[in-house]
Amino acid sequence: MSLPQRKVEIAPKKINLRNNSDPFSDIAEDVRKGLTSNPKVLNPKYFYDEEGSKLFDEITRLPEYYPTRTETKILAKESERLIAKYTPEAIFELGSGSATKTNMILEPMTKMGLLKGIGLLDFNEEFLKESSLNFQISYPNAEIMSVVGDFSKKLLFDSFEYSPTLYLILGSTIGNMNQGESIKFLKRVAGKMRASDYFLLGTDLIKDEKSLYEAYNDSQNVTAKFNKNILKVINDKLGADFDPALFDHEAIYNQSKNRIEMYLISDSYQKIYIKDLDLEIEIERGEKICTEICRKYDRQKVKAMLEPAGMEIIEWLTDEDSLYALSLCKLI
Ligand code: SAH
Ligand code: TRP
Repeated sequence: MSLPQRKVEIAPKKINLRNNSDPFSDIAEDVRKGLTSNPKVLNPKYFYDEEGSKLFDEITRLPEYYPTRTETKILAKESERLIAKYTPEAIFELGSGSATKTNMILEPMTKMGLLKGIGLLDFNEEFLKESSLNFQISYPNAEIMSVVGDFSKKLLFDSFEYSPTLYLILGSTIGNMNQGESIKFLKRVAGKMRASDYFLLGTDLIKDEKSLYEAYNDSQNVTAKFNKNILKVINDKLGADFDPALFDHEAIYNQSKNRIEMYLISDSYQKIYIKDLDLEIEIERGEKICTEICRKYDRQKVKAMLEPAGMEIIEWLTDEDSLYALSLCKLI
């Protein structure tokens, strides 16, 4: 007997939403490993449940958080010239999130009659649906491919045939990977690129410690809420009994490693039980759990990370205060 079939229209026809990984499939293993190691660590990819993604969006609008504003400013100044010069027919954005800055690239592409394809990959399905629907309305003639996926693994999507395709990762998202992970990530991107394609990489730059500190320790405590949300995610997904109120947020700038290190600091001795792992962990008073690193770069460091992946910078674009940089890259 065959089952009755029902076609569920989740999105307009041209949007191709593919789900090729569950972002939380490794959470049990990752949390067990991270919380039983010394020092304790958590994988930052678990910040981004629905609440975490909303808080992240709030961070990008904070007065102290200059990276989003500055990246937007560089794009506003440069994107029209870049599009005219390099004539991409498609873009593929990795970690697109709410994809607000993407319009600044798509608009000149449409205006110049180039735009044929928009690809988005993120593991937040809600954000992806929303941004692909918005793009469908704004760019009705473009083919839209949205992929729910994890860019810390093999990139499981078919690239567009449109040439050149401009791959991009904005928001200094690469800075949340360590050196080894970022090179592996860049190799995966390079593996997708043809000789004609481009890659646009957003990186936050090394600067005075005070500005960096304030960007990650904002006066409205939104970053603190975002940081503590990872504990709620673990409670939800693994049946743990973390009380986020028993932890303090702190982000410090590690000058020798050129990176912000984000911690949750326990304000008392605590025992946490994680039901799904049948695991009890002890946390000392003052003990720090590292939840994220945000690396800061200069041109030399960006070059050093791209080179092993077989890419080179063809344009280095920065703001007048050299707070942030966009690197336009090609295969060597
Ligand atoms: N590009 C946006 C968002 C940056 S926040 C901006 O510049 O503002 C980082 C984004 O990457 C989030 O949307 C998060 O869901 C996504 N992300 C983080 N790690 C990821 C991973 N391993 N695979 C896929 N997406 C990831
Ligand atoms: N990648 C960006 C950065 O390093 C955004 C980001 C990721 C972020 N996690 C964060 C910003 C936590 C503030 C707090 O700045």
